[in-house]
Amino acid sequence: MSKLTAAITGVAGYVPDHVLSNDDLSKIVDTSDEWITTRTGIKERRIMKDGASSDMAVHAVNDLLAKTNTDPLEVDLVIVATVTPDHPFPSTSNILCDKTGMTKAWGYDLIAACSGFIYALATGSQFIETGLYKKVVVVGVDKMTSIIDYEDRTTCVIFGDGCGAVMLEPDTEGYGINDFILRADGSGKQYLVQPAGGSAMPASKQSVEDRLHFVKQEGKQVFKFAVTNMAEVSAEIMEKNNLTSDDVAWLVPHQANLRIIDATANRMGLSKDKVMINIQKYGNTTAGTLPLCLWDYEDQLKKGDNIILSAFGGGFTWGAVYIKWAYNS
Ligand code: UT7
Repeated sequence: MSKLTAAITGVAGYVPDHVLSNDDLSKIVDTSDEWITTRTGIKERRIMKDGASSDMAVHAVNDLLAKTNTDPLEVDLVIVATVTPDHPFPSTSNILCDKTGMTKAWGYDLIAACSGFIYALATGSQFIETGLYKKVVVVGVDKMTSIIDYEDRTTCVIFGDGCGAVMLEPDTEGYGINDFILRADGSGKQYLVQPAGGSAMPASKQSVEDRLHFVKQEGKQVFKFAVTNMAEVSAEIMEKNNLTSDDVAWLVPHQANLRIIDATANRMGLSKDKVMINIQKYGNTTAGTLPLCLWDYEDQLKKGDNIILSAFGGGFTWGAVYIKWAYNS
């Protein structure tokens, strides 16, 4: 029997309607469109006024099931990458399965911050490659506005809300996830963290007063690690798979900062027209960035395209995934 690979057979996304522009933010904190645009590349981001992460995921997954002609009862496993689950428990995956009728599936949430989607993709692909499952849904979703401090100009200008989802199915011709390199370094914990709300610092009057339930980031430090590691791991996966820059059709980079994206593309020898970029309209949606890129660019993807997904995030976590695209839209 030929080797099984996990092919992405469909992609869907959802972003809330409400747009928060850089000019809107300059009325809330001491910032400007000029600062945000030149330092990050972000022009606007989407804000979810009501509802939870699972509500965004319901939109994306319902669309995904329709696009791939999948009966919800056929889905075997649902992995939700998120740092903003509906609740610490039950898992957002459980809630999503109930809301979308995927009631024969089991699933779990996976925390790897901005690398969540590639961690989940690599994990989900194993259940397909072993022949155990036929349909695995991988979701990347974050309602970052639920953990962002709108008094902290160093973080509130960066993040937004959004969700993307893909379907994984078995393939015998080599399409789909061909390789991945995933890394983690927990010594980077203090540079990007939500300090309170977990077992290390349960919620208290003091933790709320000290605003410790919000994301804290030492941007310069994170930038330094991100720019090096995302570029290096992307080049490493190319070398490991004997791919030249001509062989790579697309880089799908985590959308945290246009300068990090540019450095990664340069290290890989890729011209800008091969790089998926939507940071200007969504900002950093954490686990949502990569599937939202695939969703936005789906029409331009061709069967056989070599695609490198690459991310860096809190933890630290980082990595790259090499995919051979499985279909023409
Ligand atoms: O997605 C997960 C991984 N995260 C990342 O990859 C993020 C990596 N880091 C970054 O993208 C960048 O470090 C930031 C965009 C967060 C910040 O850009 P920076 O060029 O590193 O700025 P900085 O933190 O060095 O701050 C420069 C100046 C400071 O003022 P002083 O000390 O020079 O007077 C800040 O206080 O800019 C100031 N500043 C702002 N000014 C206007 C910080 N935030 C703002 C703001 N508006 N929103």
